[in-house]
Amino acid sequence: MQNAQKSIFTEGFRHHYALELKLRQGASDQDFLLALRTALSNGLDNPPQCAVGFGPDLWKRLSPDQVPADLTSFQAIKSPVTVDAPASQGDLWLWFKNNDPSSVFDAALIARNALIDTCEVILSQPGFIYYESMDLMGFEDGTANPKEDDRFPAALVASHQPGADGSIVFTQKWVHNLPKFNALDDDEQGRVIGRTKYDNEELEGDDMPDDSHVSRTDVKIDGVAQKIWRQSFPFGTTEEHGLYFLSFACETQRIQVQLDRMFGIADDGLYDRITEFSTPVTGAYWFAPSQSALDRLI
Ligand code: HEM
Ligand code: MG
Repeated sequence: MQNAQKSIFTEGFRHHYALELKLRQGASDQDFLLALRTALSNGLDNPPQCAVGFGPDLWKRLSPDQVPADLTSFQAIKSPVTVDAPASQGDLWLWFKNNDPSSVFDAALIARNALIDTCEVILSQPGFIYYESMDLMGFEDGTANPKEDDRFPAALVASHQPGADGSIVFTQKWVHNLPKFNALDDDEQGRVIGRTKYDNEELEGDDMPDDSHVSRTDVKIDGVAQKIWRQSFPFGTTEEHGLYFLSFACETQRIQVQLDRMFGIADDGLYDRITEFSTPVTGAYWFAPSQSALDRLI
C-alpha cells in the first residue's frame, strides 16, 4: 500500500473529472510520455489529486515485465436478456479530484491541452458528490466498500506479483432513466438495489431478490468474497445524468464476474434489475501502476 498511487484511496473530495484518451495513429509512445509529463505538472496553487491509468495494450508495451496476470482490454458484452455493455477502451485514464471545482477544471484542461497532439479524447467527464455520497437514484453508494486495511488487498495487485501495488481500474459511464426509477415506490426501489432506501439496510432472506443489484455484485468464489474498491461519482445535467462507475481491483476477474452476472452472461441467466433503469454507454479497463512504477516511467 505504501507504494500505491495515494489518490486511489483518498475520499471526501466533492468535485471530480475523468479524462479517457486514446493514442492517435502514428503517435510514438515516447512523444506520448513527454506529453504526459507536461500534462501532470500543471503548476496550480491548489492542484487536485490525480490518479493515472494506462490502457492494457499500451501498458504491455511500456512495462512488459509489470503486467498483472489477467490484465485485458474491456470487451463489449452483448446481453441475451438486458441492455448491452459497450466497450470504449482507450490508452490513458486520468482522474482529478478536489473540493475546488476551479482547480479540477483547470487541471483537466491543462492535461487535455498537453496531450491533444498525441491523443484524442474519448470521454471528458466532470462529476460531483451528491449529498452524502448518494447516487442520483437516491441510495447511498459505497456502503459495502471494504474498510480501512481491507481496502488494500481488494484494490491492489499483491506484493511479489507482476504489477505489485498497482490497481486494475474499471470505468463505465451509466446514463439513468430517473423518471422510470422514481415511478417505483420506495420498497420496490429497495428491491432493485437490494437495500432499504432510508435506513440503508441490506435486505435479508426471502426479502432479498436474486436479481437485485447487491445480489448480482456480492459474489463469493470458493468462499472468497470478490471485494472491489468503488469510487464512482454522479454527473450530469437536467437532460442527461447518471453515474461514472469507477472501481479498483486486485485482478480483472473480480470485476468481470460481477459484470457477467449483471448482464445475464453468468450460468444462472439472471440479470441485474438496475439495468432496467440505467444504461452503460462506455466501458474500459486500465492499469494504475504503483507510484514508484509511475515515477520511473514519467
Ligand atoms: C453496491 C449503485 C453499477 C458493483 C451498490 C449500492 C448502490 C449501487 C446504491 C448499494 C450500496 C453500496 O454498497 O455501495 C450502483 C449504480 C450503478 C452501479 C447506480 C450503475 C448505474 C455497478 C457496477 C458494478 C457494481 C457496474 C460492478 C462491475 C457493486 C458492488 C456493490 C455495489 C460490488 C456492493 C455489493 C455488496 O457487497 O453488498 N451499487 N452501482 N455496481 N455495487 Fe453498484
Ligand atoms: Mg453482503
